[in-house]
Amino acid sequence: MTVRLEVMPAGAWAGEVASRLLAALDANRGMRLVLPTGDTPSPVYAELAARAADRFGEAVVLGLDEWVGLPAHDPARCDGRLRRELLDRLVAPPAFREIAVDAFPSPDRAAREHDVHAQAGLDLVVLGLGGNGHVGFNEPGSTPTSPTRVVRLAEATLDASVERYGATLRPSGGITLGMDRILAAGAVWLLATGSRKAAILARALHAPESPECPASFLRRHPALTVFADEPAAVRLGVSG
Ligand code: GLP
Repeated sequence: MTVRLEVMPAGAWAGEVASRLLAALDANRGMRLVLPTGDTPSPVYAELAARAADRFGEAVVLGLDEWVGLPAHDPARCDGRLRRELLDRLVAPPAFREIAVDAFPSPDRAAREHDVHAQAGLDLVVLGLGGNGHVGFNEPGSTPTSPTRVVRLAEATLDASVERYGATLRPSGGITLGMDRILAAGAVWLLATGSRKAAILARALHAPESPECPASFLRRHPALTVFADEPAAVRLGVSG
């Protein structure tokens, strides 16, 4: 197991992660990458929107996860949030394969269709870290072989949809890229910021691998980089 851990001061974190992403894009203009939503990546997207210019133009961005049961323009929707915070602000936006939850007769079908896009290959998967150890919507109980699918969400995750992301109603579930696809990607980046994530990040990186903390399985990936700010890394026994 080799986890590359990069710890930075909170004030430098977003700019540094944005720089790394731009460097990765410059090295592979046609990159196929998965981007998360949530509060963690927002400041990275603000940096990218200001600095990326046309550097995403040949890339393909795939959605990581999506709520089921929210209307198309709900403020919490992951597709809308990624468009608002990043894609719509780029001079030359990438192709965007969102999880097309409204385009198919059932969420199951939308999950299967998304998996077809993921199966075509992923160069990089960027992830946030849920407070309960979830990645995407791979909630506790997920294993390394969990596929792209419709999931029942943890109560804390549903609470967050309304309380933190402003959902106008409580979602009925979620669709997530599977752990299988995440672990098969060329590289995985796990983002974590703030003291709120310190305990779960330490568990993900140091406790025995377990379905109770799906992020712990990321350590199996041969090219995992963790980008943490100092408050999130405080329990890891390292300094930046
Ligand atoms: C959400 C999303 C994840 C996200 C995580 C952390 O529920 N499904 O993709 O990475 O939880 O969110 P935040 O960055 O807002 O703490």
